[in-house]
Amino acid sequence: MKFKEYKMVSKVISIFLLGLLVNISLSYAGDFKPLKGQTAVRVCADAYNLPYSNNKLEGFDNKIASLIGEELGIPVEYYWFPQRIGFSRNTIKKVDPKTGRFLCDLAMSIPAGPGRYLTTKPYFKSIDVMVYRSGEGYELNRISDIAKVKEQQGKKLKIGLFDRAIETEALLNDGLEDQIEYYQFMAGDTRVYPGRLVEDELSQGKIDVAFLWGPVGSYYANHATVPMTVVPLDELGENYVFSFAMGVRKQDKAWRDLLDNILEARKDDVAAIISEYKLPSIANVEPAQEKERKAPYSIVDGKVDNKTYVGWRLFNSTCFVCHGKNATGTERAPNLVEKMANMSGYKFRKKVLGRYFAVVNFDDPESRMAYLGEEQSSQFKMPTWNDDPDIRSHIGDLYAYLKARADGALGEGRPEKLEE
Ligand code: HEC
Repeated sequence: MKFKEYKMVSKVISIFLLGLLVNISLSYAGDFKPLKGQTAVRVCADAYNLPYSNNKLEGFDNKIASLIGEELGIPVEYYWFPQRIGFSRNTIKKVDPKTGRFLCDLAMSIPAGPGRYLTTKPYFKSIDVMVYRSGEGYELNRISDIAKVKEQQGKKLKIGLFDRAIETEALLNDGLEDQIEYYQFMAGDTRVYPGRLVEDELSQGKIDVAFLWGPVGSYYANHATVPMTVVPLDELGENYVFSFAMGVRKQDKAWRDLLDNILEARKDDVAAIISEYKLPSIANVEPAQEKERKAPYSIVDGKVDNKTYVGWRLFNSTCFVCHGKNATGTERAPNLVEKMANMSGYKFRKKVLGRYFAVVNFDDPESRMAYLGEEQSSQFKMPTWNDDPDIRSHIGDLYAYLKARADGALGEGRPEKLEE
């Protein structure tokens, strides 16, 4: 009994000493001190979101968080929540009723600049990429090469896109609408991650080309079971290079400043961690410029191409009921000749196929309320056409017709068709 007691005490002492040692060694590891009362770096993160984070701590944000813990001499703890609508509201801004404290204090890979969070300086930048299986007998360097493969080799490459992809417009303008497979960006199942577009769909040949955000596209292409080519979309221009930072609550300025100082002191290590994940190069991104939009229609001597003609026909079988025969509006729906003066093909597609998807941010109470208010008050509503295969596959034709009307290139009435 005595002996046992002694052993216990010695064990307690050695644990105590060990703790002390660990504490000492940790607190000497970095040059920074935690904030008052801060006992851990408490990260809000997604458990299934590589290359950023996962619950096996394999993401670059996991590694950068460890580095911060190391500098501060405190452990890193995670509060897991899917990074999607409601993330900030359910994590960094949510108080745990049991403890009265916020659930976590640091969100990573947040768009730099004003928004929901107070953000640090950016720690990485990227642009979208185009990913395809190597060795299929074609080479894609630009978005327009997909149309060339169709023209020159007769291959209709199947394109996988998320429903908010910025490449949509260019693809529609190239007349590729029937080659596009749209994927829901925020699927219901929280374990479904954007990388599946490469990992599942592209690897298995369900699609031939995928467009994704650079870090995600590169990561999954590099881990795929079949060889992939990753093309940074330099042609999108500097406006599509986005910077990412760490985010904290707006009131936590001292915490943000501390993080900025750590990021600065360890910037080489942060860069080294990020470089392991092979983000696409942004060295050759084209300068931002007011790009000249190619008209989606072609009209010669008042005669229209097939696209525009099909658009007219479809408009006058479906849309005219509300928008009027010549798209000039009725008491039921607005004049599209006016409304479409400056509407891009992308916006048009969003409005017609999935009306509110792009404009309502459900994470933002104000935007949500505006949406709900509109839902209740407006008597006549624009139907959502996403489920109508006719409209969906001819959305580019409808755009061509309406744009020709809006640009003043096409008058009222039935257009004459060009001989093609
Ligand atoms: C049942 C009536 C109805 C039909 C049919 C209809 N629309 Fe609409 N549409 C509306 C109404 C009402 C609005 C304006 C309010 C809104 O946005 O809901 C609208 C808005 C729009 C807008 C957005 C204009 C803006 O303000 O930016 C576009 C584009 C549009 N419609 C295109 C179409 C096309 C293309 C078709 C045919 C495929 C079509 N609509 C069929 C009722 C209709």
